[in-house]
Amino acid sequence: MKYQVITKDGRAKRASMETVHGTIQTPVFMNVGTVGAIKGAVSTDDLRQIGTQVELSNTYHLHVRTGDKLIREFGGLHRFMNWDRPILTDSGGFQVFSLTDLRKIKEEGVYFSSHIDGHKIFMGPEESMQIQSNLGSTIAMAFDECPPSHADYDYIRKSVDRTTRWLARCKTEMSRLNSLCDTVNREQLLFGINQGGVIDEIRIEHAQTIREMNLDGYAIGGLAVGETHEEMYHILDVTVPHLPEEKPVYLMGVGTPANILEAVDRGVDFFDCVYPSRNGRHGHVYTNQGKLNLFNQKYELDHRPIEEGCQCPACRSYSRAYIRHLLKAKEMLGMRLCTLHNLYFYNKMMEEIREAIEEHRYSEYKAAKLAGMAGQKD
Ligand code: GUN
Ligand code: ZN
Repeated sequence: MKYQVITKDGRAKRASMETVHGTIQTPVFMNVGTVGAIKGAVSTDDLRQIGTQVELSNTYHLHVRTGDKLIREFGGLHRFMNWDRPILTDSGGFQVFSLTDLRKIKEEGVYFSSHIDGHKIFMGPEESMQIQSNLGSTIAMAFDECPPSHADYDYIRKSVDRTTRWLARCKTEMSRLNSLCDTVNREQLLFGINQGGVIDEIRIEHAQTIREMNLDGYAIGGLAVGETHEEMYHILDVTVPHLPEEKPVYLMGVGTPANILEAVDRGVDFFDCVYPSRNGRHGHVYTNQGKLNLFNQKYELDHRPIEEGCQCPACRSYSRAYIRHLLKAKEMLGMRLCTLHNLYFYNKMMEEIREAIEEHRYSEYKAAKLAGMAGQKD
């Protein structure tokens, strides 16, 4: 892996990262395909067409269905879903905490019940690395605990210390797996995850500790879980400076276009979020003048595309009126076109961000983009 900062504009970084599955230009938005598919009937051919650089899948979901052993036998997740560009897999930690109840956290890992059929599962750092190794993703995420947003100081401190011990075990297990000759991707990368809620001193101390562990990249987790946007930006302000500048920084699960614009300005490289696909399935589409709800009656005779000048597959061929009709008739094509447009919008915004940083006009770009979308919540 070779990560190189091409240029900076203030704290905003424009970088490239070479991987075995190709080069990633950052800042980048990773398109979320939790179970190895982008929701809304979006194919990997579509992803190539709308400029997707990195696809993101989840360890936990693929483990409980269809199973990572089967995917390994098939030749890995890249071959399984016919996607030859980079894939990042999240570790399962976060999904176990958000999807399952009746879980028990121990030093060795987490005991929980499957959200599919309720059967008992154990996942710890070693299991998470083994599953991600079977999937053969480009980037594996460390197994962490994302403490609840209402957790108190003592809980967060204990949880973060355990996440650090888990990280050391992830690193050891990942090196062992990468050294085996029958591993799907022997150059699988490992990103560590910073936690600490909204407590500055815990965030900073944890960033300093994991920085010493020399990982391939660093994520900031435990944000966008109920704190305000201002609190999130503040945590980025205090944490990012303690992560190594010569490594990629990934803000997990974030966010709105405005969140991304602000986080890029604080040195973040990687993003992922379900908003563009989830909003698309509900007929909510992004434009540079804010979001439109295509269910609104005012679009029933609207000949214009979702956004004038947009080169996405929806806007090149169809009107707002037709897409509204598809959504109202519950035709799959309606959701699909809205999702394609939204993902294209996010990918295109990242391209504009990279260009603006290169040309050292990022603050002007950010101000103009934010002004157009003023008042938009997600
Ligand atoms: N996705 C969004 N937030 C998190 C987090 O804190 N940890 C992990 N593993 N994934 C996330
Ligand atoms: Zn479009």
